[in-house]
Amino acid sequence: MFGTDRNLKVLRMKYSTLNFNPEEIKTPCFVVDENLLWHNLEILSSVKEHTGCKILLALKCFSMFRVFPLIRGCLDGICASSPDEARLGREEFQKEVHTFAAAYSENDILDLCETTDHLVFNSFGQLERFRPIVQKRVAGTGRQIDFGIRINPEHSEGAVPIYDPCAPGSRLGVKLAHFREDLLDGIAGLHWHNLCEQDSDCLQRTVKAVESRFGEYISKMKYINFGGGHHITRPGYNIRLLENIINDFQQKWGVQVYLEPGEAVALNAGYLVATVLDIITDSDIVGGSDVVTGSDVVTGSDVVTGSDIVGGSGVVGDSGVAAESATRSGIDIAIMDACVPAHMPDVLEMPYRPYILHSENPEDFPETTAGSQRAAKKYIYRIGGVSCLAGDVAGEYSFDEPLDIGDRLVFTDMAIYSMVKTNTFNGVRLPSIALVKKDDVLAGKNDTLKNDTPERKDHIKVEIVRTFDYSDFKGRLS
Ligand SMILES: Cc1ncc(COP(=O)(O)O)c(C=O)c1O
Repeated sequence: MFGTDRNLKVLRMKYSTLNFNPEEIKTPCFVVDENLLWHNLEILSSVKEHTGCKILLALKCFSMFRVFPLIRGCLDGICASSPDEARLGREEFQKEVHTFAAAYSENDILDLCETTDHLVFNSFGQLERFRPIVQKRVAGTGRQIDFGIRINPEHSEGAVPIYDPCAPGSRLGVKLAHFREDLLDGIAGLHWHNLCEQDSDCLQRTVKAVESRFGEYISKMKYINFGGGHHITRPGYNIRLLENIINDFQQKWGVQVYLEPGEAVALNAGYLVATVLDIITDSDIVGGSDVVTGSDVVTGSDVVTGSDIVGGSGVVGDSGVAAESATRSGIDIAIMDACVPAHMPDVLEMPYRPYILHSENPEDFPETTAGSQRAAKKYIYRIGGVSCLAGDVAGEYSFDEPLDIGDRLVFTDMAIYSMVKTNTFNGVRLPSIALVKKDDVLAGKNDTLKNDTPERKDHIKVEIVRTFDYSDFKGRLS
């Protein structure tokens, strides 16, 4: 792939910020870069250092256990949402395991007796039912399981309702009206979770709400878990305020504070690399005989393309872009070997518009004067996946050069809530999982080659951690 000058030029332009060469990756493939993970872990370590708080990795967000040894060096354990996550945490992370689920079955509880250190209940009913079973089960084994109760602070911070555990009618957490002081004996912790990708001012207001409702119970606890949703590693997050909140809280109430972020641990630390399998022009779709590609269009063809309609009716914002843009006509379409509902379902579920490296959002360049160039990057495509779903679309993207079959598309920030959510809808194969190792990147920076050149990237090995095949599809069916 590096054989020609053109390839070198394109690679320099396209992939200059990556620590690996996507052309060498068999796609679709998640690539996690330990170097980027490490950057986040350093930030989280400094929060721990400045406050003495404990930080758990939320496995629901990121469960790539191959990198647990790296994360284990900085964080205190994991939080699980099920017996299987708890077992993964016990086996592979090997530090504290905290578990919370909206409800447990008796079988869940028996499993969790083997794996969890902290069991957080969503109701006093479940606590009353299962506490004796747990106590009996662990008696004489040397294991100790602490009990906790999830509270509902009844304080929303503006997250959309499906991501807001404090929305009216929420089933998550005990509200003050149902709190049972008489059952607190032996309860070690209170837990809440109400944030989603939010800053520390949201936490500050939440803490005030919790203190005003549940203040009298806090000092009876050993620990208070502030949940997840703290976007600590996002540039611009107010870390100083977070640290002050934690320090003040611990000092005031004499308790250990825990945080259990998922996103903040692996934010921007991974990619989904896909390959363009086909380019379809709108004229193809309506049955026109002249096949016109993006490159033909900008060199003067009369055919109306996506670039002509951007900024026209149907302008959509970032959320919901995939669903809406799947229906607009007149845009060249690139079909990739990834599948949005199977490989990055949050794009449709949240919804949000993922970023593709070195692309732009044509919507960011609305028409100013008739006929003017609207996007800095001229070649606009709707990027879609291989499945039957009409809405299997990531969004519309513009590029400096026309896309070709075989080109790589590098979706950023794909470590979180994607690898854990993949499925085999349509029998589409799961993306492989690959790793750029921290030591290799550091070694690469010290070598004699200039940084950020394709040649340097050649020296950085990408370890293919896992590939999937037919048996993974068949194995979950019967
Ligand atoms: C109880 C609980 N803890 C932690 C998290 C992790 O949140 P995030 O990945 O946004 O930090 C979640 C996310 O839904 C959660 O529900």
